[in-house]
Amino acid sequence: MAEDFSRRSFIKGASLGVAAGYFAAAGLSSTALYKQVMPAEKLNQTDIGEVKALRMKVISETSWYDNNVLLNDLKGAGGLLVNQYTIPWTSNGVAAGYNGNNAGGFATYIEADLMDGSTKRILLDTGWNPAWMEKRFIEEGVAEKLAKKQIDYWIISHEHFDHYWGLEATLKYNPNQDVYVPKGFYTEGFDLLKGKAFPKAQVKNDFPHKGKVHVMDSSKVNPLFPGAALMTFDMPIICRVFGEQAFVFNVKDKGIVLVTGCCHMGIITYMETVRKKIKGGEKIYAVQGGLHISPFEDWDPQYDDLILALNKYGIQKIGANHCTGFIAVEKMISAKLPVVTGTKRNMTKRDIYLGNGDTLAV
Ligand SMILES: [Fe+2]
Ligand SMILES: [Fe+2]
Repeated sequence: MAEDFSRRSFIKGASLGVAAGYFAAAGLSSTALYKQVMPAEKLNQTDIGEVKALRMKVISETSWYDNNVLLNDLKGAGGLLVNQYTIPWTSNGVAAGYNGNNAGGFATYIEADLMDGSTKRILLDTGWNPAWMEKRFIEEGVAEKLAKKQIDYWIISHEHFDHYWGLEATLKYNPNQDVYVPKGFYTEGFDLLKGKAFPKAQVKNDFPHKGKVHVMDSSKVNPLFPGAALMTFDMPIICRVFGEQAFVFNVKDKGIVLVTGCCHMGIITYMETVRKKIKGGEKIYAVQGGLHISPFEDWDPQYDDLILALNKYGIQKIGANHCTGFIAVEKMISAKLPVVTGTKRNMTKRDIYLGNGDTLAV
């Protein structure tokens, strides 16, 4: 009995990664040896089906224009844990900004061709500055698609100001558009959707939402349509935000394509979760969106390990931008990772990554 108990405890510990640490400490950290002595990992994978093809167009990856202005706003408000709705964000006099406003925003437009020949259209996020986002929505045809009710899914990755507060740009064109948010949204987020203003943070919504709000369950695979699912990660994020969701697509003959907003859960956690929970998740073909490695252009030696780890996944295309950070992209290129370059248009600052108006097709 005692022996059975200790064996079960050991296996339970192994599933939590305790045994991996034990083996490493004991000098048995090689993967081959680890696999020989450890019981096979039990995977609980969901078959999400397949799509035929996928196109991700960057509407805006420029969340703010001047890093120093944003960092000063955060510092002046009391640091990284302060409630975003209470921060007086700088909205004028910024030389690099859009009409002097430091706020830009993040949004991606996705088209998925299904196996039956139909196409699903998705808007991921809605940016920060409604004027900037509306301009980009008009330029890329998103405004027209919203008005014609051609957007099948409006997904909000997380509640951060730069992904969510530009919601007027979407709701102006279709206030009835259903929205999908991750579990963990705060009351302020739902109130903003309904039309409440937060003057201190200079965020408002003059186009109250009239559609359905879907709060996506966490720690689960949430299927959207054949070949597409959302995964929600529970975690506290800076500026008092909680939880983020991201896409998993399975593209026929290619493999898994991950599309993110900010990826606050960490790209390795994201890929490992997909490997465990999605059928075919061990073959990640492409990653697109913000990877949150060096958003403020600081670098820590531990991030070099992350770049090395990324190299082991066999990814074929990396369309990373936004909070990935210039330094992180440069390091990826040096490490010969398949970074997709862009055209440096529409206020995107560099051409070394997929920028505003650029498309990654799979
Ligand atoms: Fe972001
Ligand atoms: Fe974020």
